[in-house]
Amino acid sequence: MRIVSLFSGAGGLDLGLRRARHEIVWANDIFLDAAATYKSNIGDHIDTRDICTVPSEEIPECDVVVGGFPCQGFSVANWGRTLEDPRNRLFGELVRVVHDKQPRYFVAENVKGLLSMDKGRALSVIEAAFEKASQLGYRVRHQLVNAADYGVPQLRMRVIIVGVRGDQPDFQIFPPPPTHADPSTARMLRLKPWVTVGDALEHFPEPENGRHIPNHENSQYKLRFNGHLGHRFVDPAKPAPTVTARGDDRGGVVVLHHPGNHRRMTARELAAVQSFPDDFVFSGTKTSAYRQIANAVPPLLGEAIGTMLAEAEAAGIARKAEAA
Ligand SMILES: C[S@@+](CC[C@H](N)C(=O)[O-])C[C@H]1O[C@@H](n2cnc3c(N)ncnc32)[C@H](O)[C@@H]1O
Repeated sequence: MRIVSLFSGAGGLDLGLRRARHEIVWANDIFLDAAATYKSNIGDHIDTRDICTVPSEEIPECDVVVGGFPCQGFSVANWGRTLEDPRNRLFGELVRVVHDKQPRYFVAENVKGLLSMDKGRALSVIEAAFEKASQLGYRVRHQLVNAADYGVPQLRMRVIIVGVRGDQPDFQIFPPPPTHADPSTARMLRLKPWVTVGDALEHFPEPENGRHIPNHENSQYKLRFNGHLGHRFVDPAKPAPTVTARGDDRGGVVVLHHPGNHRRMTARELAAVQSFPDDFVFSGTKTSAYRQIANAVPPLLGEAIGTMLAEAEAAGIARKAEAA
């Protein structure tokens, strides 16, 4: 399907969607380093204007709109005026594009915290705004998923919100079916056990012996083990803890220890923990690369979402053929 990707960042989600054979016709992100990464790894179709300044007529027609809208400071203080509240501006932009383009499907990814934000009211308000974005109505659903269940060597809980335009066949399966599970239940469920961080990083040499590997520079960061976020022991026999950037856009990235617990992970290793392939090169400084990686949707989760979209598309084609 033809996909428009908002808040695309370095392109984690888009890489996965493309692997599921969709075409990204237009992407947008204001973060220039992330856009440079996107261009060199995915394609030139990324626009770097502030999304608030891009008229809908300049966005191509599409079958699907995707976007992990940033929701720091999201507020539902004033019921019914959610879209006008400046703190919800970027969510409002996503709704605007869905409204003006009327895609058959949309997918929004967000942090787990969205479920409990304002005692769950934020999510209800978000879903209601999406439902009304078409005269045909969108059937909107959400699900909390763990990226580890899709083969990502990381415990990363994210909310996926999907919408199906009223005249379209529903998703055959939602959420995408897991391929992996906690080792204690994997066998019973006939799934593979979660990929461990030790296994995922095993093939990387120490940075001083791997100078030829892009984004594999050592960091001066001194490790601490005080149990606080970013200062915890990493168990090589489990998936890594969540890779995350702090609060607002200026904040750094929460440090993850290498599974040997003797140094910080390099950006290359962090990218592997997010399931980026080793030849996906990040532009900009080391700090910028860490941030682009922490913000991304893991490509393997993106691919599972892409496969779910492709199955809905196939069901639609079959239904049309039957009707004819
Ligand atoms: C959580 S990240 C999304 C990452 C992406 N989905 C991926 O898989 O890599 C949110 C992105 O929104 C972008 N953003 C924030 N404000 C924006 C604006 N006004 N216009 C366009 N992009 C914006 C940020 O630069 C950031 O890259």
